[in-house]
Amino acid sequence: MQETIEKSQETLDRENAIKQILANNNNDPSRLIPILQQIQEMDKYLSRDAIEMVAVGLDIPVSHIYGVATFYAHFTLNPKGKHIIRICDGTACHVKKSMGICEKLYEKLGLSDEQRTSSDLLFTVDIVYCLGACGLAPVMVVDDVVYGQATPALAAELIDKIRAEESAA
Ligand code: FES
Repeated sequence: MQETIEKSQETLDRENAIKQILANNNNDPSRLIPILQQIQEMDKYLSRDAIEMVAVGLDIPVSHIYGVATFYAHFTLNPKGKHIIRICDGTACHVKKSMGICEKLYEKLGLSDEQRTSSDLLFTVDIVYCLGACGLAPVMVVDDVVYGQATPALAAELIDKIRAEESAA
């Protein structure tokens, strides 16, 4: 019962935050992209219910918002993990075996090319193509911290460290 009440409050807070984002943008349909960016910044993805709220708030069709959200690669309709790990597979990193790091992360987090977010929503692994730091290849970025000459062992170590920090929190 307690949990139900907490969840309802959480949902309410989130809905209010979305309403606030809409109000900050004057409920102006021409501000659709910044509105979606701000919601994605908050939720880390665009959920169906957020898109429906935006459609009502801006008085535009849900299908139009999906059209915009799927057109821009920046937007994601799938939940992202709390911690984002980016593995570079550009040429310089690829030849230095960056995919070995990715395989290690997949193995450790139970992920695959089709499922890049861990079921506990703690981690998302994204593959990117050149982070502009080729001299450091292979490059891995964990929550905006750049690791050069990264290895599968370092990736595994960082996962363990983050998990330990999360369970201590
Ligand atoms: S190819 Fe990986 S940083 Fe350039």
